[in-house]
Amino acid sequence: MYSLVTDSRMMILPLLLTVVTSVASQDEVTTFCHTCVKLESTCYNISYILELNATFRNQIVIPKIGILHHNNLLFYAFEPPIEDEEFYKVAYVNLDDPTNQGIISDEHIKILNFGTFDIDQDNYKVFLGGTVGIFTYDLKKLAYYSSRADTITSLFYKGNVYFVKYGDDKINIKKGDLFDVVLEYRAIKNFIVTKYNVFVFLCDYGLYLKKDSSIVFLSHNPFFRGLTMDLQGEIYAWWIDEIYKIVIEKDLAKSRLVKIGTMPSEEVIGAMTFDNANNIVFTKDSGLYKMTKMDNLTRC
Ligand SMILES: *[C@@H]1O[C@H](CO)[C@@H](O)[C@H](O)[C@H]1NC(C)=O
Ligand SMILES: *[C@@H]1O[C@H](CO)[C@@H](O)[C@H](O)[C@H]1NC(C)=O
Repeated sequence: MYSLVTDSRMMILPLLLTVVTSVASQDEVTTFCHTCVKLESTCYNISYILELNATFRNQIVIPKIGILHHNNLLFYAFEPPIEDEEFYKVAYVNLDDPTNQGIISDEHIKILNFGTFDIDQDNYKVFLGGTVGIFTYDLKKLAYYSSRADTITSLFYKGNVYFVKYGDDKINIKKGDLFDVVLEYRAIKNFIVTKYNVFVFLCDYGLYLKKDSSIVFLSHNPFFRGLTMDLQGEIYAWWIDEIYKIVIEKDLAKSRLVKIGTMPSEEVIGAMTFDNANNIVFTKDSGLYKMTKMDNLTRC
């Protein structure tokens, strides 16, 4: 008998505690952020910036975005309608003044097909790659740069232009008038060179790292939509509604791919980059969105 009484008393205390906690969490519910996403342990609020303006295909494809930080100019590669003679174009919009926008073109060269680009942040210049090689755009005009006979499928700028040519399993670097092969691997689709000269590359077989003579395999998934670097030099990849961080260790073999978050309501990320405040900026169809860090909100 005695032991039964003790038992039922002991039951009451947890019940009381449950009531107290549920009152507290009701308070929290009011601050719960439905437009937020948790990346690692931090909460970010997603807000809409603007609609990217272009004559898009029926299914909107924006494979790449990048921001020239000096004047907050966002560049984006997109696919125009199928009737257009060009398959790919690069356009820009000033994020401080969206009426300042346009498509990069040249009245003398009809077909450019710029499908990739990268930004030289120090010299306010954009390098563009397409079916007639590499061009530069200094915010006023286009100028031919290199490799007119080649189709450029991927391009990266870090002091020099690094690029991949169609049907050529190499990453080349242009140094003055000379070219060097800095990496050979089959079917490279996309790559980044870190500040420590680690190559992060995505090919038909998955995601890899390479430094000097060591190659590290990170993932079998060849379908990551893209790779991007934040202002601190951290590398990210994304795939459907998931964001990944590529953690590169000094001992390259210990490097790894870490999933850091999933978008709310399975929103599909098109392209991704970082703004001047190191916030993630991404596209969903033609919409441009930003993730702002919520310092005092841990529950997302
Ligand atoms: C998140 O952003 C939206 C849109 O800008 C805003 O309405 C909302 O108040 C923000 N949420 C929080 C918790 O700050
Ligand atoms: C959108 O782009 C088209 C050309 O592609 C241009 O004619 C139009 O003025 C732009 N709209 C805005 C709001 O700037």
